[in-house]
Amino acid sequence: MPGPTTFPHGFLWGAATSAYQIEGAVREDGRTPSVWDTFSHTPGRTAGGDTGDIAVDHYHRYREDVALMRDLGLGSYRFSVSWPRVQPTGRGPAVQRGLDFYRRLTDELLSRGIQPALTLYHWDLPQELEDAGGWPERDTAHRFAEYAGIVGEALGDRVDLWITLNEPWCSAFLGYGSGVHAPGRTDPVAALRAAHHLNLAHGLATQRLRTALPARARVAVSLNSSVVRALSADPADEDARRRIDRLANGVFHGPMLHGAYPADLFTDTARVTDWSFVRDGDLVTAHQPLDALGLNYYTPSLVSSAPDSPTTRADGHGAGAHSPWPGADDVAFVQSPGERTEMGWSVDPTGLHDLLMRYTREAPGLPLYVTENGAAYDDKPDADGRVHDPQRIAYLHGHLSAVRRAITDGADVRGYYLWSLLDNFEWAYGYAKRFGAVYVDYATQERTPKSSARWYARAARTNALPA
Ligand code: NOJ
Repeated sequence: MPGPTTFPHGFLWGAATSAYQIEGAVREDGRTPSVWDTFSHTPGRTAGGDTGDIAVDHYHRYREDVALMRDLGLGSYRFSVSWPRVQPTGRGPAVQRGLDFYRRLTDELLSRGIQPALTLYHWDLPQELEDAGGWPERDTAHRFAEYAGIVGEALGDRVDLWITLNEPWCSAFLGYGSGVHAPGRTDPVAALRAAHHLNLAHGLATQRLRTALPARARVAVSLNSSVVRALSADPADEDARRRIDRLANGVFHGPMLHGAYPADLFTDTARVTDWSFVRDGDLVTAHQPLDALGLNYYTPSLVSSAPDSPTTRADGHGAGAHSPWPGADDVAFVQSPGERTEMGWSVDPTGLHDLLMRYTREAPGLPLYVTENGAAYDDKPDADGRVHDPQRIAYLHGHLSAVRRAITDGADVRGYYLWSLLDNFEWAYGYAKRFGAVYVDYATQERTPKSSARWYARAARTNALPA
């Protein structure tokens, strides 16, 4: 085993982005609106009315961005394919020009020795599918499988790591529950139906990918599996923790990893729905053998039972009036003391260690990737035009040390993807929050690597944490 700051041979140092957050070019080459185009163009939905219309113009600047990745010494780049670029109506034949962009991007990556890691769905549902009912409708899962097959056939020869869904919790519970994400619906039953159909979509897509991809390709999913902690040992707080854990984690990893929903999820949500949308065979379909598990981690959640007080929205997902937690309106999310990022999220690397150890137990033998981890800070260029972000370096150092400790403790972690390569469109927060290792001047689109980018490049080059 390598020393305490050195990572195992072959450890992948990566960075991640997603299509709507960086590409722009929303009306080019046959692309049609996704739910995020509609949502961001609806007044009041995003900070400052920001949209992804231009974003960081990656669609036109991908060559420059891949050169930045090479300077960062990245071994892998995780990006997502925009569904409405490839299949504008969410059904039927693919648009070649849309697929060609991802061919050019992956060719560019491969020519620089960077392994592409492709996410099929990072929240940009074609608007036509939402108009037909969206994720609460079963047919959307079948449409997703068709799309997965198209992308698999087009790019299977050049991409080895495939991620079906990114953070399905956000798609279901922020998109249809609290409404702070697109499409902005606030219906707890729709949120649970969406969660089930996302599980089904993951299973159906994995089956399609298995037939479309060469045998060497690996299929995974990226979950924002929460680290939920109880405020006290009081049984009521412990029960609040258990309920949020089922709604945050068990609702997806139950079907995907074990082929069943946790039984208490049904009883906890019995007042909301009878789950009659689950059909025979769905859980077998959702439970496909996977080659790896992706985990996105930013901060843990601290919860308490608060039967008499309205829910405190400290769960890091925006101040929506509606709870994203069906049947758990009486749970309060408590701000942990200590340091916080610009998102208001507490900095707690032990949560990442706990998360990796949890899945080492729950999914023995399944290789793990940290498919996102990072922090937003209020970065600004100094008089020389340099961007110093010591807080981000400290955040990355702390979290990568936690990954390293988990490896020592037996977790099979194969790689780490920093969120994010570039500053970008942070969903409902618009451009106000900067997560990038590379600073973007949105007026000129000029890219400036921050000091954290140089720090990360050193880590990647030496396969070890800089002192
Ligand atoms: C998770 C999401 O996958 C990503 O799109 C987002 O920007 C980061 N979290 C930061 O909130």
